[in-house]
Amino acid sequence: LRKLNRRIYGVLFVFFVAQRTKGDLTYSVQEELKRGSIIGNIARDLGLESLGISARKARVEMEGSQKEYIRVDLRNQDLVVTERIDREEHCGQNPNCILKFDLLLENPLELHRLSLQIQDINDNSPVFQKDSVKLEISEIALKGSRYRINAAHDADIGQNAVQSYILQQNANFVFNMQTTNAGSKYGELVLNKELDREEQHELNLLLTAVDGGSQQRSGTVVIKVTVLDANDNAPLFTEAEYKASLHENAPLNTPVITVSAKDADEGLNGEVTYEFGRISEKSEKLFSLDEKTGEIVVAGEIDYEEGSKYELMIEAKDGYGLSSEAKVIIDITDANDNAPVIYLKSLSNPIPENVSPGTEVGIINVQDRDSERNRMVRCFVQQNVPFKLVPSIKNYYSLVTAGQLDRELVSEYNITITATDEGSPPLSSSKTVQLSVADINDNPPVFEEQSYNAYINENNKPGSTLCSVSSRDPDWRQNGTVIYSLLPAEVNGASVSSYLSINGDTGVIHAVRSFDYEQFRSFKFHVMARDNGSPPLSSNVTVSVFISDVNDNSPQILYPTLEGSSFMTELVPKAAQGGSLVSKVIAVDADSGQNAWLSYHIVKATDPGLFSIDLHSGEIRTQRDILESDSMKQNLIVAVKDNGQPSLSATCSMYLLISDNLAEKNSKLTSYLIIALVSVSTLFLTSIIIILGVRFCRRRKPRLLFDGAVAIPGSYMPPNYADVDGIGTLRSAYNYDTYLTTGSRTSDFKFVSSYNDNTMPQTCFLFTFLLVFSPSEAAFHMLIVVNICKL
Ligand SMILES: *[C@@H]1O[C@H](CO)[C@@H](O)[C@H](O)[C@H]1NC(C)=O
Ligand SMILES: *[C@@H]1O[C@H](CO)[C@@H](O)[C@H](O)[C@H]1NC(C)=O
Ligand SMILES: *[C@@H]1O[C@H](CO)[C@@H](O)[C@H](O)[C@H]1NC(C)=O
Repeated sequence: LRKLNRRIYGVLFVFFVAQRTKGDLTYSVQEELKRGSIIGNIARDLGLESLGISARKARVEMEGSQKEYIRVDLRNQDLVVTERIDREEHCGQNPNCILKFDLLLENPLELHRLSLQIQDINDNSPVFQKDSVKLEISEIALKGSRYRINAAHDADIGQNAVQSYILQQNANFVFNMQTTNAGSKYGELVLNKELDREEQHELNLLLTAVDGGSQQRSGTVVIKVTVLDANDNAPLFTEAEYKASLHENAPLNTPVITVSAKDADEGLNGEVTYEFGRISEKSEKLFSLDEKTGEIVVAGEIDYEEGSKYELMIEAKDGYGLSSEAKVIIDITDANDNAPVIYLKSLSNPIPENVSPGTEVGIINVQDRDSERNRMVRCFVQQNVPFKLVPSIKNYYSLVTAGQLDRELVSEYNITITATDEGSPPLSSSKTVQLSVADINDNPPVFEEQSYNAYINENNKPGSTLCSVSSRDPDWRQNGTVIYSLLPAEVNGASVSSYLSINGDTGVIHAVRSFDYEQFRSFKFHVMARDNGSPPLSSNVTVSVFISDVNDNSPQILYPTLEGSSFMTELVPKAAQGGSLVSKVIAVDADSGQNAWLSYHIVKATDPGLFSIDLHSGEIRTQRDILESDSMKQNLIVAVKDNGQPSLSATCSMYLLISDNLAEKNSKLTSYLIIALVSVSTLFLTSIIIILGVRFCRRRKPRLLFDGAVAIPGSYMPPNYADVDGIGTLRSAYNYDTYLTTGSRTSDFKFVSSYNDNTMPQTCFLFTFLLVFSPSEAAFHMLIVVNICKL
C-alpha cells in the first residue's frame, strides 16, 4: 500500500487525442468527471473558429439515450459534461470504452462523429460475492491441498482491478492465485500445515483483495473453515460454457437454460447445489436460478434495448463445499417493440410564400431503439402538401418545399410526417408540424370590371356621385389594402381633378362641377388602385363618362328675326297657286337629339285656311290659290317647339303682303342680289378667317355672338338633315352646310357639301349670316348657315 501511495498522480482530466479524419472528433476523458467539466472546444477542434459557429446551433446527440451526458456550451463552444459518466455502466469489463455521439451543426446541416474514450478511474472497490465463504475441510487433507476461493470482483479494469490478495496471518494456510482455462482468476487456499480437528475445529481467516488504483481500494471476505472428514470430488459441469438465446419481452418464469454438474462422490458429498457466482446487479434482477435443478428462468423484464447479452457465472457446490464454475451466455433477440420516434430538430416558421421549391424548412430526426431490420425506418410526408422529406445524414431528414407556395391559396399547413420501421409487424408513428406561410406583396389590385361607364345628366349638382370603382387584392393586411386615385390627365384642357374627385378608400367618384352636354358629351379618365405594400403594386382602369343631354335650350328662331317689324314683310305674288312656297321659318336648338328635334306650327293666322307650315321644314306654303277677296296683309304667328321632355318653344310673327307687280322689280332685284352676294362673300371670307383664328388660338368659347352672326356650339343640324338615333347621338355624318335662301320662291337654293367621318367632333360652330334687303316694298333676305365642325 505504501508503495502505491508513493505514486504521484496528476489530476489531468482530459487529453485531446487526435483529430482522426476531418470532422470526426475523439476525446479521451476520465469517467466520473464533475458536471461542468470542460472536455474540449469544438470550434477550435473542428477548425471552425472563424466561421461564426455560434449561429450554427451545435448540438450533441447520443442515439437511443434519454440522458444528455455532454453538451455544447453555445456561448463559447466548449464541450462540457452534464451527467455522470460511469465507465462501468457503459462498458463493463471492456477495456476499450468508447461512447459515440453525433455532433450536429445546422445551417447547413452537418454531422460529425464525436467519440469519447472513457478512461477508467479507481472508483470501485473489489467485492467478494459473499461476506463469508464456508469451507469444510477434512482433517486428513494433505499438505499442499488446494481450496478454491471465488475471486473478488472489481468493476474497474486494468490496474484498477484486483491486483493481489492478502490472507490474514495463520498457521495452516497460504493464499495462491490461479488462472482458469477461461481466463478468469481465482484464488486458492493451500494447506501449508495439516489440520487437526481436535486441536481446532474451525478457523476464521480474513482475506483482503486489493486493487492497483492510485487510491487503493480493498474488499474482504471471511473464510470459515470447518474441519471435517474426507470429500474427494468436486462437482463437474457438463459444459464449461452454456449458451442460450432468449426472446426480448419473454414473460416471467420462461425457462432459459438448465445447467448441470455431476459429482462423483456419494451421499452428501455428491449432492450438487447451484448458485450464481459473480453476477452483475442487472443480471441478478432478470434471472433466477433454481438451487436444486440448475434451471435458469426469467425473473424480470427482458429488454433488448437495455442489454443484448448477459454473462452469468454459475457455481456448483457439493455438500462439503467443493465447487466448480461455468459460464452461461444468454443472447437476447430483438423484438420490434419500439416504434420509431420523430424529433423535430428545427423549424423555420413562418416561411415567406416566395421561397423557391427545395428550400429547407426544418430538420427531422428519426430514432428507433430496436436493432437491425426493426430499426430501419422509412419516413414520408402524408397528404397532399407541397413538402417532402429529403434524407440527409444518417437518420436525419430535411423537410423541404416541393413546390411554389401561395399564401392566398393556403396560408397554413399541417404537415404530418410518418415513420415506419421494417419490422414485422411494422410499427409506425407520426408527428404533425404546423407551418404558416407569410405574405409577400405579390398580387396587384384587380378591378372588378375591365372598364367602367358612368352616365350622368348634364347640369348635375357639383358633388353628385358619378359611379364607383372597386378592386380586390388578396394579399394580407397592408399588402392587400387598396387606395384609389385619379391618374393625372387633361379633360378639355383642364386637369381631370378639376372635374372629378375620388374617395381613396371607397372608390366612389364624385363630380366636382356641373357638366354641360353642349360643352362636351363624354370623356375618359384612368383610376389607379394601389396597395400599401412595399414596394406597392398597382393597376389602373378606364372610366368613361357619358353626359346625357337635358332639354335646357329652347329653340332659337333665326328667321324671321324675333322682333317683328315692317322690314320682315314677305311678298307673296297674287298669282301664286295653291302649294307655292311663300317663306320659311328657320330655327335652331342647341340641344341634341329629341331635344333639338324641332316642329313648326301656326298658332294664329289672319286667314287660317290660306297658309300652312310644314311641320318639319318650317316651309310656309299657300294652301289654295289666292283670291281677290283675300286681304292684302296676312299675319301669321308661328311656334317652334322642340321634342324634349318637357318641350321648350319659341314663337315669331310673320307678315305677308299679297302683291301683283313682282315682275318689274325682278331686274332691280337681280342687281341687289349681286351686291348682296358680294357683301355676303366678303362677310363669309371674313368669318372664315375669324374661325380659323379662333381655332388657331384654341379658344373654346362655346357661344360666339357677333354682329349679325350666331355661333352655335354642338353639332346643330337643322332637323331635316340630322340623322338621329335612339339615344340622341348623331350617327354617322357631320355636315358642312351652307344654306342660301331668298324670300322668293324661285331663288331658293341650297348648297350642301357633306362628308362622312366616323370620328366624333368635339366642337361645332354654326354661323348663320342673315342679310336683309328691303328697299321699299320688295324684301330680300339672304341667310347663310355655316356649320363648321372641328374634327
Ligand atoms: C391544423 O391543425 C390545427 C390543430 O390541430 C387546427 O386547428 C387547424 O385548423 C389545422 N389547419 C389546417 C390547415 O388543417
Ligand atoms: C407584405 O409583403 C412584404 C414583402 O413584399 C413582406 O415583407 C411583409 O411582411 C408583408 N406584410 C404583411 C403584413 O404580411
Ligand atoms: C395602366 O395600365 C396599363 C396596363 O394595364 C399599363 O400599360 C399602363 O402603364 C398603366 N398606366 C399607368 C399610368 O400606370
